[in-house]
Amino acid sequence: MSQVVTILILALTSVIPIYANVHGAGKICDELGRRSLSTRPHSVSITDFGAVGDGKTLNTLAFQNAVFYLMSFADKGGAQLYVPPGHWLTGSFSLTSHLTLFLENGAVIVASQDPSHWEVVDPLPSYGRGIDLPGKRYKSLINGNKLHDVVVTGDNGTIDGQGLVWWDRFTSHSLKYNRPHLIEFLSSENVIVSNLTFLNAPAYSIYSIYSSHVYIHKILAHSSPKSPYTIGIVPDSSDYVCIQNSTINVGYDAISLKSGWDEYGIAYSRPTENVHIRNVYLRGASGSSISFGSEMSGGISDVVVDNAHIHYSLTGIAFRTTKGRGGYIKEIDISNIDMLRIGTAIVANGSFGSHPDDKYDVNALPLVSHIRLSNISGENIGIAGKLFGIKESPFSSVTLSNVSLSMSSGSSVSWQCSYVYGSSESVIPEPCPELKRDADAYGRAAV
Ligand SMILES: *[C@@H]1O[C@H](CO)[C@@H](O)[C@H](O)[C@H]1NC(C)=O
Ligand SMILES: *[C@@H]1O[C@H](CO)[C@@H](O)[C@H](O)[C@H]1NC(C)=O
Ligand SMILES: *[C@@H]1O[C@H](CO)[C@@H](O)[C@H](O)[C@H]1NC(C)=O
Ligand SMILES: *[C@@H]1O[C@H](CO)[C@@H](O)[C@H](O)[C@H]1NC(C)=O
Ligand SMILES: *[C@@H]1O[C@H](CO)[C@@H](O)[C@H](O)[C@H]1NC(C)=O
Ligand SMILES: *[C@@H]1O[C@H](CO)[C@@H](O)[C@H](O)[C@H]1NC(C)=O
Repeated sequence: MSQVVTILILALTSVIPIYANVHGAGKICDELGRRSLSTRPHSVSITDFGAVGDGKTLNTLAFQNAVFYLMSFADKGGAQLYVPPGHWLTGSFSLTSHLTLFLENGAVIVASQDPSHWEVVDPLPSYGRGIDLPGKRYKSLINGNKLHDVVVTGDNGTIDGQGLVWWDRFTSHSLKYNRPHLIEFLSSENVIVSNLTFLNAPAYSIYSIYSSHVYIHKILAHSSPKSPYTIGIVPDSSDYVCIQNSTINVGYDAISLKSGWDEYGIAYSRPTENVHIRNVYLRGASGSSISFGSEMSGGISDVVVDNAHIHYSLTGIAFRTTKGRGGYIKEIDISNIDMLRIGTAIVANGSFGSHPDDKYDVNALPLVSHIRLSNISGENIGIAGKLFGIKESPFSSVTLSNVSLSMSSGSSVSWQCSYVYGSSESVIPEPCPELKRDADAYGRAAV
C-alpha cells in the first residue's frame, strides 16, 4: 500500500514543474501555456438540459444537471459543456473535474440579481469571516471546488454579474452575506480561464483560492470605475499562477495578490508564490492597478510582473500591510511598466487596512523586503512614491532602477518615505534619501 502511495506521489511530482527562485517565476506563463488544451471527446449543449437563452428564464437547474451528467465522463477523457449564443440567466452553479465550459461568441451567462438564487457557504478558513461583513458568503456564480483539469473558455463569450444591485447593497449596508464573485477556484489544480469577457462582478471577477497551476489568458474584465471594492483577478494563497494578455478595468484593484487575514491567515499558512503577470492593460480606478495585500498573512513571494500598461488609477503599484498581519511580501520583480494618469505611482503602506476581529496579535509584524522595480516610465503622475514602512519592521531592500516619471503640472511632492531602506539607480525625480543607500547595510543598521 505505502509503495503504491510513494509511486503515485513520484508520478505526480514529476509532472509538476519546480521553479527554484524568482527568476523561475518569469517562466511560468510559458510553462503553463505549453500545456495543450485537452480536446474533450464528449460535448453537450446547455439546451439539451432545457435551458432557455431569453435572459428571463432561470437556468440554474439546467447548468447543475448538465454538470452532474458530465461527471460520468471524467474518466473517459472529460467532456465539454457548450453554451450557444443567447442570454442565459442563472444562479450559482458548480463545475466538475475534466470539464470544459465553452461560451460561444454571443453567449452571455447572466447572474441572477436575486440573492435567494445564490447558495450561502462558510467563510474561508484563512479569513475567519467575510471581507464585507462578518459571517458567511454567497458562493461564486461559477464554482470549482477541489477540482483538477478544468477549462472555462470560449470565443469571447461573456459572463455578466449584473453587479449594480450588489454594489448598492454593499454601499447601503443591506447585504445579508458577503458579496459573491463571478468565477472561483478553491483547492483546485490545473485550471485555465481564457478568451472570455467578465462584466460587472459583484466583487471579484476571477478568484483563485488555495489553488495551483492556474492559467488566465486573454480575458477582459470590466466593472464600473465607481463600483465599490470590485477587483479583477485575485490570486489568494495560490501558486504557479499566470495572468497574461488581458485587460482589466474595475472599480478598486485590477489585480490583487493576497494570502489570508491576520491570525486566520497565519494559522492557515498558505502563501501566494510563483506568480507571473505579463502583457496586461490595467486600471484600478479608486484602488491600485496592481496590489499586494493588504491580506498577506500567509506570505507573498516570487512574483514577476513584466510589461504592464497602467492607467487612470488612484495608485499604480501598491504594497499594503499592517501590524498584526505577520507574513511577508518578498522577492517581487516588477519591470517594463508604463503608467499614465496615476495619482501615486508607487505606494508601500505599513498601516493599511483593518483586522478581522480583536483576536489578532499586534506583535505579528509583516516583513516587506527584496522588492525590485525597474524600467518604469510614467506620464501625468501626481506623486512619484509614498513609501511608509513600519517602525518595528522597516521595509528593506527596495530597489528602484531606471524609473522615469513625469509629474502632472501642479504636483509639488515627488517622494515621501519613512522606515523604508533600499537603493536606486537612474530615478527621476530624485528619490528620497532612504532609497539612496545600499539596502542591506542601511537595513541592518536600522533594525
Ligand atoms: C469581446 O467582447 C467584448 C464585449 O462584448 C468586447 O468589448 C471586446 O472587444 C471583445 N474582444 C474581442 C477580442 O473580440
Ligand atoms: C482563444 O482564441 C484564440 C484566437 O483568438 C485561439 O487561437 C485559441 O485557441 C482560443 N483559446 C481557446 C481556449 O479556445
Ligand atoms: C500576448 O501578447 C504579446 C504582446 O502583445 C504577444 O506578443 C503574444 O503573441 C501574445 N501571446 C499569446 C499567446 O497570444
Ligand atoms: C495608509 O493606509 C491607511 C488606510 O487606508 C490610510 O489612512 C493612510 O493614509 C495611508 N498612509 C499613507 C502614508 O498613505
Ligand atoms: C529604461 O526603461 C525604459 C522603459 O521605461 C526602456 O525603454 C529603456 O530602454 C530602459 N533603459 C535602460 C538603460 O535599461
Ligand atoms: C530594461 O530595459 C532594457 C532595455 O530595453 C532591457 O535590456 C532590460 O532587460 C530591462 N530590464 C528588465 C528587468 O526587464
